Amino acid sequence: MSAASSHEKLRQWVQEVADMCRPGAVHWCDGSSQEYDRLMQEMVAGGSATPLKKRPNSFLFRSDPSDVARVEDRTYISTPDPMEAGPTNNWMDPEELKKTMRGLYEGCMKGRTMYVIPFSMGPIGSPISKIGIEITDSPYVVCNMHIMTRVGTKVLEALGADGEFIPCVHSVGAPLEPGRKDVPWPCAPIEKKYISHFPEENLIWSFGSGYGGNALLGKKCLALRIASAMARREGWMAEHMLILRLTNPEGRRYHIAAAFPSACGKTNLAMLQPTVAGWKCETIGDDISWMKIGPDGRLYAINPEAGFFGVAPGTSYDSNPMAMDTLKGNCIFTNCVLTDDGDVWWEGMDGEPPAHGIDWKGRDWTPASRDVGAHANARFTAPARQCPVICADWEKPEGVPIDIFVFGGRRAGVVPLVNESYGWDHGVFLGATASSETTAANIGDIGALRRDPFAMKPFCGYNMGDYFQHWLAMGDRLGRNAPRIFYVNWFRKNAAGRFMWPGFGENSRVLKWMCDRVDGKAKARETAIGLLPVEGGLDLEGLEIAPETLQELLKVDSDAWRAEIGSLEEHFAQFGDRLPARMREQLEALRKRLG
Ligand code: OXD
Ligand code: MN
Repeated sequence: MSAASSHEKLRQWVQEVADMCRPGAVHWCDGSSQEYDRLMQEMVAGGSATPLKKRPNSFLFRSDPSDVARVEDRTYISTPDPMEAGPTNNWMDPEELKKTMRGLYEGCMKGRTMYVIPFSMGPIGSPISKIGIEITDSPYVVCNMHIMTRVGTKVLEALGADGEFIPCVHSVGAPLEPGRKDVPWPCAPIEKKYISHFPEENLIWSFGSGYGGNALLGKKCLALRIASAMARREGWMAEHMLILRLTNPEGRRYHIAAAFPSACGKTNLAMLQPTVAGWKCETIGDDISWMKIGPDGRLYAINPEAGFFGVAPGTSYDSNPMAMDTLKGNCIFTNCVLTDDGDVWWEGMDGEPPAHGIDWKGRDWTPASRDVGAHANARFTAPARQCPVICADWEKPEGVPIDIFVFGGRRAGVVPLVNESYGWDHGVFLGATASSETTAANIGDIGALRRDPFAMKPFCGYNMGDYFQHWLAMGDRLGRNAPRIFYVNWFRKNAAGRFMWPGFGENSRVLKWMCDRVDGKAKARETAIGLLPVEGGLDLEGLEIAPETLQELLKVDSDAWRAEIGSLEEHFAQFGDRLPARMREQLEALRKRLG
């Protein structure tokens, strides 16, 4: 057997899980392309995967209609003391939750193969990386993990005989009785789904869902929820942030990490094609950033993932040409339309919709159909290395030094296109109060306003009040080396309900202003909410935008902001005495500035 046999603790744990779940077979994943191909062939033969004639080595899956997104209300942070999970997380007592879940896991892999996936979040050997072992009964999960993380024997070698690993158990929760034919997407009903985290033990237990962040446990579960709790204990940061490098015409590089809630265009921004002459953008990551203070006192970031798990609808050569080129082959698509010529399609793709296709529920679909063809949270899973603008340093073990943090959300009104914080504490306040209108990436009402601090509301593995304090403490340690902090809103609408800012590549104009601010080259005006570009401060050369529109985009409406104070107070009140006094002071300062 593989190197795993020398790791006693790992072997023991795998045996315990096998004894509980009672699979028909156990397979240790080696991470090879042969393994990937064999599993895909099995899934094609079993009817759950459809090979795409138009895209080499690419496959389409359709999920069960009940299993289409992360299930936040079935996601638990389980700590002995509920205060450790805090008001933004679902909490359950660890003993009780484990008892319930053990009952569900009992015999749950009957008739299935149990796969053991050794994976590394971050380049193997990087001082910032962590190793996880996911046990799953879903070959779909194995193939996705092959793309999204670094998988296999090389990880076991790095782990050695006694290395630290984060155990992650996953089951679709659908035992297969002898002689019964499998369904294309096995899963359990919603009331049996549990996405559970035990941060004090670095442990993840997931049951009942095969979709995205519920099942690919390296991503939201490990790289955000468990990692954020580890990062606090160990003095680093695990954030829901894209990472990009901008290079100006003189060749000066800036590294930007930006946090936006799900489906607010993080992938598009990460692969931005700047419209400002002479500026270049390269992608380092599109979803998660792990950051540590380096020997020179600056903050260094790595992308712990190896692929992109992006929202398909709306992705086009218009909105994100670099993503479209990334998707040409070796990809997994989930819940997209299958076209008659063997390709995928989704709403918002370039050109005419196909005259006929098969929709995400497996039904005939035409443009005249009442329902959308692709689910709003349909996804692509694509290797990051295929992105034409992937940065040459994206796998650099020491990471890249961050110059700028950006926060934001989707707001139709009130919040201007861009503002800069007055300092670190004010920047933390901007992150702590970030708000967005909800989208389809999470189950729940679409379009409702929610405060989503640092875009981490669904992903922070401990009390969010303590998380704000951790940010303050990191700023204290970074001192003069701390990145500058900005807040943006690409989504402001006019009275007719139209977006006022063109977005996409044009966002480079806003990023350029931030870089110029860092270099002391751009003026700003002081407003109640922060520092905004002065008139003529944004480089708009080549962009047609009416002066009134621009004025509206950069307007600070004091009345509208005063009206937000109540909701900010309410938001902060939920943290009780876990809210750092420095956050309360920031709210007071805002109130004073608003007059
Ligand atoms: C994601 C999300 O899938 O944030 O990245 O929901
Ligand atoms: Mn995300």
